[in-house]
Amino acid sequence: MSTDKVSVHGGWASRWVFILAATGSAVGLGSIWKFPYMVGVYGGGAFVLVFLACIALIGVPVMLAETLIGRRARQSPANALKALALEAGHSGKWSWGAFAGMITALLILSFYSVVGGWSLDYIIDMGRGDFQGVAADQVGAYFGGVIADPWRLTLWHTIFMLLSAVVIAKGVVAGLERSLRIMMPLLFVMMVILLGYSLTTGHFMEGVHFMFDFHPDKLLDGLLPAMGHAFFSLSVGVGSIMIYGAYMPKNSSISGTIVGVALLDTFVSLLAGLALFPIVFAAGLNPSEGPGLMFVSLPFAFGNVAFGQLMGVVFFILVAIAAWSSAISLLEPMVAYLVERTKIRRGWVTFWLAFTCWFVGLGTVFSFNIWQQAKFFVNDGAGFHLYQWGAASGLDFFGVIDFFTSRIMLPLGGLCFVVFAGWVMGRDAVRDELSIRSPFLFALTLFLMRYVAPIGILVVFAAQLWK
Ligand code: PHE
Repeated sequence: MSTDKVSVHGGWASRWVFILAATGSAVGLGSIWKFPYMVGVYGGGAFVLVFLACIALIGVPVMLAETLIGRRARQSPANALKALALEAGHSGKWSWGAFAGMITALLILSFYSVVGGWSLDYIIDMGRGDFQGVAADQVGAYFGGVIADPWRLTLWHTIFMLLSAVVIAKGVVAGLERSLRIMMPLLFVMMVILLGYSLTTGHFMEGVHFMFDFHPDKLLDGLLPAMGHAFFSLSVGVGSIMIYGAYMPKNSSISGTIVGVALLDTFVSLLAGLALFPIVFAAGLNPSEGPGLMFVSLPFAFGNVAFGQLMGVVFFILVAIAAWSSAISLLEPMVAYLVERTKIRRGWVTFWLAFTCWFVGLGTVFSFNIWQQAKFFVNDGAGFHLYQWGAASGLDFFGVIDFFTSRIMLPLGGLCFVVFAGWVMGRDAVRDELSIRSPFLFALTLFLMRYVAPIGILVVFAAQLWK
C-alpha cells in the first residue's frame, strides 16, 4: 500500500493543527470534571499514582499505536484495521475490534453531552450572579436543584449535542482549528488562575497530601478505575485519536507529537486536581461526593472572590469548549466510517448518529432524577439482581454506561489497537510511520507496544477479578 494517501474526509493543514485537535480531544471533561471526582471517590494518592503509571506505560503506547494505524491507512478505524490486516496477510476480522470501539465512543458521547450541558447551564447561572457570596451548602443545594430537573438537563444536553453535531456535519477539519487556537491556551491560563486562588485558601497542602500521599491499602480498589480513566483521559481505545491520525500530514513525527499531547493532558488533570481539592477542603465539602464535585466546589470559589462572577463565566465557557472539542472526536470515527461505507451524505449520517446518542443520553439525564431509584447489578445481602427499583446498592443508568465504557470497553479497545500495531502490522510499517531516529528509542517503543502495554492491561483485569 502506498503510504502517502489522503483520507476522503480531508486532512489537517499541518502538524500543529493535529496537535491542537488531539489536545482538544484529550483535554476535556475527563481532566477537569472526571479526574478530580474519581481521585476523591477512590481515595486520593493511590489512584493518582496508578493513573500516572497507566498513562505512561499503557496509555501512551496505545496512543502511538492508534495514531500510526490511522495515518498509515487514512480511513475510519474499522476500515483502517481491515485494510492494514489484509495487507499484512491477516484476517479482516480485526476490524470488529475497532467497530466495538466506535460504538463505545457513541455510548461515551451519550453521557458526555449531558455533563457538557451542565457546564453550558453554569455559564448562564454564573453570569446571572447566582453564586455571589454563597455558602458551601447552598452551592451543593443549587447543583442538586439543577440535576433534579429533567427538563432543564434535557434542554442543555440537546444544545450541547447540536453544537457538536454542527461541526461534524461541516467536516471536522474545517471547523476545529479556528475555535481551538485561542481557547486551549486560555483554558490553561484559567486553570493557573484557579490554582493561584487555591493557594490562598490556606488548605493547599491538604490538597497536595490528598492527591499524592500514597496509601497502599487503597491501591487495589482504584486499579481498574485508574487504568480505565487513563484511556478515557487520553481519548484512546475507541478510535478517536486514530481518526485524527488519519488526517495527519505524512511528514510529521508521530512519537514526539503524541508524547507532547499526553503530557499536556496529564498536566491539565493534575492542575485541575490541585486547584480543586484545596477549595473542597476550605469549603468543608466532601471530596468523595462524586460527579457533582467540580460543579459544587468551583462555583463556591468563584462566588467568594473579587471578579469571581466574570472569571466564573469565562471558566465555564472554556470548560464547555474543551468538552465540545472532545465530543466532536467521539462522533467523528463512526461518521467517517458510515460516510466511507454508505456514501450517504455526511450531514445526514451526523444527524442520525447524534440523534441516537442524544436519545441514549436521556437515560443519563433521568439517572439524576426520575430514574434515580432504578438500580442495575444490585449485589446486596439478599443476593444478586440484574435490576431492582429502589435498591440501596447497584449502579444507575449513567453508572452502567460509565462502567461498561471506561472500565471494560476502553481497555479492551486499547488492547486490540496495541496488539495490532505491535504484532500484526509488522516492524517495518511501524518504523516507517513512527519515524523515530534513535534505534534505542524505537526498540523501547516497540517493546512498550508489544509487551508492556498488553500485559499491563491484562494484569489489571486479572487483579480486578481476583481481588
Ligand atoms: N478524553 C476526553 C476527555 O478527557 C474524553 C474522550 C474519551 C474523548 C474518549 C474521546 C474519546 O474529556
